[in-house]
Amino acid sequence: MDKQRRFTTAGGAPVVSNHDSMSAGARGPLLLQDVWLIEKLANFNRELIPERRMHAKGSGAFGTFTVTHDITKYTKAKIFSEVGKKTEMFARFSTVAGERGAADAERDIRGFALKFYTEEGNWDLVGNNTPVFFFRDPLHFTDLNHVVKRDPRTNMHNANSNWDFWTSLPEALHQVTIVMSDRGIPKGYRHMHGFGSHTYAMINEDNERVWVKFHFRTEQGIENLTGAQASEIIGNDRESSQRDLYEAIERGEFPKWKTYIQVMTEKEARKLPYNPFDLTKVWYKGDFPLIPVGEFELNRNPDNYFAEVEQAAFAPSNIVPGLSFSPDKMLQARIFAYADAQRYRLGVNHYQLPVNAPKCPFRTFHRDGAMRFDGNLGSTLGYEPNSYGEWEHNTELAEPHLALEGGAGIHDFRQDDNHYFEQPGKLFRLMSAEQQQRLFETTAAEMAPVEEFIKRRHILHCYLADPAYGEGVAKAMGLTLDGMDLTNPYTK
Ligand code: HEM
Repeated sequence: MDKQRRFTTAGGAPVVSNHDSMSAGARGPLLLQDVWLIEKLANFNRELIPERRMHAKGSGAFGTFTVTHDITKYTKAKIFSEVGKKTEMFARFSTVAGERGAADAERDIRGFALKFYTEEGNWDLVGNNTPVFFFRDPLHFTDLNHVVKRDPRTNMHNANSNWDFWTSLPEALHQVTIVMSDRGIPKGYRHMHGFGSHTYAMINEDNERVWVKFHFRTEQGIENLTGAQASEIIGNDRESSQRDLYEAIERGEFPKWKTYIQVMTEKEARKLPYNPFDLTKVWYKGDFPLIPVGEFELNRNPDNYFAEVEQAAFAPSNIVPGLSFSPDKMLQARIFAYADAQRYRLGVNHYQLPVNAPKCPFRTFHRDGAMRFDGNLGSTLGYEPNSYGEWEHNTELAEPHLALEGGAGIHDFRQDDNHYFEQPGKLFRLMSAEQQQRLFETTAAEMAPVEEFIKRRHILHCYLADPAYGEGVAKAMGLTLDGMDLTNPYTK
């Protein structure tokens, strides 16, 4: 027999039969000594790992990022060090609310997670296809997930809870408007933009900091589905986005996104009339224009979905010299949340898995732990400081101090900024009359099962963004504004 093709147990011993289990006589009961049968059943029982608590359904691909413009005056990050430089990367796109087997063409935000294997470590930019988010304090995050996931009693999605929560947070209107708009159901992952969403920092060779936002603009063009088109697609194909991405790459049609940054100096940030670290707001492009940086292309499908996509671990805490965080409270919480989730979902040594491992040498003092599968750093020292130079930390990379104001404690952000409706109003006015009409109808359809007082709370928020927005949504719901108090309840 060809030994290369020999079927073996996990221990490497040849499997005698994969068709007949061992029994006491031809018609008798099975034997406990049938190690192959027991191994097979036991492994099957452990095939499942926890899915991501949100963004569970996703698609991934490998690719290349290329620098097209010089931004070294803003950052010393090696990935941007020269025009033409290429860096290997991995991307994963996802929906948020659905479980691992959910349909792709759902009305939902899309995750847009990028991992760049730079020569100074992995940089993960874990963004979405929307530039803003529902709120600006991470205490709301678990509640958001509870309302977009299944109802604890009915095990069904509960529109009433979902809208009760969203409309109880007036700052959510910006994101809700995007999700209810034409962009709420991208045709596939190739046809949407991506955003880092948060404000991040860039630090240059002179150790100067600027604030930045990242934008990734699809070169395939934006294409969306209407609710009716999406329902028809889901009826025939629950994997429409996975199929579209996978098949395009197999055909050699590599999807591409152009990368841009917006840049704000610390001085400009201090003078801005709104909080530059508020994730519910965009920076206007007129004030902070898009600066071209590069382009990425996805050009290789993973060989194995579980190994490379399901086990991929993206974490905002994967950051490299020249790039850094901002005081955005949401980002600050995410710096903790992801690696912690992955230590639970994949295990403490998940960073060694091939898709997650840096492509540059990495030498921590982490040792041991479940499923340590590299050499555990052999006989190198496991403590620091030591007298043998293993390993030297890099104090020259310390960032410039960030000046802060105010005392430590709970700060009510509503006192800082309660302008919830200005940006959703501007977004509404950018839409054509047809787009606005579809926004009204989609909102009415999505809110159909919701109690009237919640509908009216949403209508008021829309009205405060733009009277035509409130009136249009009310009309589509078969309601009028008669008798409603239309003053802003949130002004000081
Ligand atoms: C996934 C937490 C907000 C984008 C996840 C996961 C956690 C998490 C725990 C699962 C990670 C894993 O198991 O691998 C949080 C918290 C947030 C927050 C605590 C706010 C306080 C956001 C925001 C964005 C975002 C604002 C986008 C701008 C994503 C994406 C994924 C994800 C794209 C999936 C990553 C992948 O493809 O593996 N989030 N998240 N999240 N989150 Fe968030």
